[in-house]
Amino acid sequence: MTKITTENTVKSATSASPDPQRGSLPHQNVAVLGATGSIGTATAEVIGHLNRIDPNHRWKLWAASGHSNLDLLEQITCAAMGDGEAPERLIFSDPTCLSPAHAAQRFGRHGYQPESLKFGPEALVDAARHESVDVVVAAIVGRAGLESTLAAVESGKRVALANKETLVVAGGLVRQRMTQSGAKLLPVDSEHSAIWQCIAESKSPVRRLILTASGGPFRTASRDEMENARPESALEHPTWQMGRKITIDSATMMNKALEIIEARWLFDVSADQIEVVVHPQSIIHSMVEFEDGSVLAQMSPPDMRLPIQYALTHPRRLPCQAPAFDRTQRWDLTLEPADLERFPALQLGFQVARSGGTAGAVVNAANEVAVGLFLDEQIRFTDIVRVCQKTLESHTFDDQPTLSRLLELDQWSRQEAQRCAALLR
Ligand SMILES: NC(=O)c1ccc[n+]([C@@H]2O[C@H](COP(=O)([O-])OP(=O)(O)OC[C@H]3O[C@@H](n4cnc5c(N)ncnc54)[C@H](OP(=O)(O)O)[C@@H]3O)[C@@H](O)[C@H]2O)c1
Repeated sequence: MTKITTENTVKSATSASPDPQRGSLPHQNVAVLGATGSIGTATAEVIGHLNRIDPNHRWKLWAASGHSNLDLLEQITCAAMGDGEAPERLIFSDPTCLSPAHAAQRFGRHGYQPESLKFGPEALVDAARHESVDVVVAAIVGRAGLESTLAAVESGKRVALANKETLVVAGGLVRQRMTQSGAKLLPVDSEHSAIWQCIAESKSPVRRLILTASGGPFRTASRDEMENARPESALEHPTWQMGRKITIDSATMMNKALEIIEARWLFDVSADQIEVVVHPQSIIHSMVEFEDGSVLAQMSPPDMRLPIQYALTHPRRLPCQAPAFDRTQRWDLTLEPADLERFPALQLGFQVARSGGTAGAVVNAANEVAVGLFLDEQIRFTDIVRVCQKTLESHTFDDQPTLSRLLELDQWSRQEAQRCAALLR
């Protein structure tokens, strides 16, 4: 059994601190990649909040990226300016959305010089590597976040990781590069943050990581109901407000599958040390079982501002905007076994976590394609996981892939997933 500790998993974020008691540097420059998403906007809120409540520390939104939602990027920029912390750099990762001339005109109104406005995916990588940046918040959705997250890891940054797909696609490479660079991964996913917090509470070996799953909108649905589910009902998550892709992933439980793989790499454990239980209230964010059978759980009402803030301030705990328990109300906490037959994505997640190598890259790409096809009403809800299984079966497995092999396979899987989906129509 692997001994899991905070030292061999997510390394302590305080090791570079001149002030170990307080646990973080007095001034932190933060690059939020994917600032216009659900995690990105929550991060900007957390940064503003920390600056209001924590007079000994300064958090600067140093860089913010948007892809298509440039109105929101402008709003985030103005809000940060209102707090006296205008981002030094704005990144337009999709250069087709705004030309440099239009960007200079639009953001020039807010005092930006053209050299502070950067364009294209390479600008994400540049910001992730930039010497002024202390923390990179990896909040881009999907495989599109891979290169910039990897660049942050290679540059030895503290990486607040929301983009789980990076570990799903290239977990082995990320761990290798972390060892070389001394980078630290700070989990943002609420489940992995919960595990991180529980492990930090004990110096003893861990027996099992228990990921909780809300069960999503189809927790009690029959297979038939799921077969005919429309995008609008799959997008109705009972407990979390999130981006569209992760919301569909929650409905298929592919999100939990991706989290199984993420946990395997993040905490360097075997797939057999990971379990999933369904917990519809989303209060227990995950649990850790120790050698003596004791189980520690981290609990809080569902609100991503808490794990985001903890990733930034670890090991300090500061007042948070996320609401605390209302103890005047009755709270029911239920746990039920996960149904691997109705949610075959879970089986796939364990299979991929066991095999490693190229399997994660293939399933991740196939899933991104299948989710898009489902949202466009090209395939049925239950076909999403079928497409992923079929794509995985048709690929040639490689145990120790290079980055270029993974990127090649990502492209191949997208085509193969389209082909498999066409056969199911
Ligand atoms: N939301 C949650 O509660 C939650 C919880 C745990 C983990 N996560 C993980 O966090 C990540 C982000 O999720 P989210 O829910 O915040 O997603 P989201 O709301 O859809 O936001 C995605 C962000 O990525 C940007 N983006 C989209 N395509 C891009 C591309 N090709 N290149 C560069 N940037 C691109 C978007 O820009 P535009 O909007 O400007 O187009 C946006 O800023 C995902 O990996 C998800 O699994 C999310």
